Amino acid sequence: MTKEIEHRIDTSVPHPARVYDYWLGGKDNFEADRVVAEMVLKTEPGMIEAVRENRAFLGRVVRYLAEAGISQFLDIGTGIPTQGNTHEVAQSVNPAARIVYVDNDPIVMNHARALLRGSEEGRTTYIEADLLEPETILGDRSVRDTLDFGKPIAVIIIGTLMHIRNELDPWSAVKAFSAAVCPGSFLALSHTTADFEPEAMAAMAEIYRDTPTGMTHRSGPEIARFFDGYALVEPGLVVGHQWRPEGGVPKKVFAGGYGVVGRKL
Ligand SMILES: C[S@@+](CC[C@H](N)C(=O)[O-])C[C@H]1O[C@@H](n2cnc3c(N)ncnc32)[C@H](O)[C@@H]1O
Repeated sequence: MTKEIEHRIDTSVPHPARVYDYWLGGKDNFEADRVVAEMVLKTEPGMIEAVRENRAFLGRVVRYLAEAGISQFLDIGTGIPTQGNTHEVAQSVNPAARIVYVDNDPIVMNHARALLRGSEEGRTTYIEADLLEPETILGDRSVRDTLDFGKPIAVIIIGTLMHIRNELDPWSAVKAFSAAVCPGSFLALSHTTADFEPEAMAAMAEIYRDTPTGMTHRSGPEIARFFDGYALVEPGLVVGHQWRPEGGVPKKVFAGGYGVVGRKL
């Protein structure tokens, strides 16, 4: 890790990117992250598989969109790179695909090189920014140089919005991205919910309660509100692993989150 990034990382508090990295078997996590990750696993051992399924959902969504002709992606809440990153999936379908990655954890910046190693024909860009400041992201020079807002863009926000508390109004931020893209663009979200496994999810929220971001699970109707002005792509608002599963058969995994894709009207 560069000295500059090391200075900006507080390893004494758990951070979503690093807790998630631990569950995915990565090495970019610290003691505080591992404590939270292990506490969650103790209450719900199915979390590891649910997290892997969340990554699989991301992969299916990006492939679906790239095959549908979408060649521009704005991936907010990128996370620490692992297998099947957005640019890899999109550029395997269309080598000319363009991707902008955005995350607010400096540790992700440390991996930007891995994210930027895209195809020659395409383009990938990484910026460190906060989803709650859409005007900063949308006005960023490198974002504007990479993406053409006159053409459809897929805004991808996977496993991220539950780290934004209600009082910070994540709906307004998502609305700003939706307003900036043209009709025919897409919004893809995955989001934790307590709709199906209330006890385990309440225990998880409790473990996260004193972390800087907390974890705010949201109900189906609350998640549907992000899609105001969109037509949902079939099968609509479903548990992530039930969204167009490979081979048509959803796996039986812990139902901790929704996965939804909509097309802007
Ligand atoms: C659980 S990880 C998900 C990573 C990836 N999208 C995936 O699904 O594999 C959540 C990511 O969102 C990022 N994040 C959380 N709040 C954010 C915010 N307000 N602005 C930008 N990124 C944020 C975290 O740093 C972390 O990398």
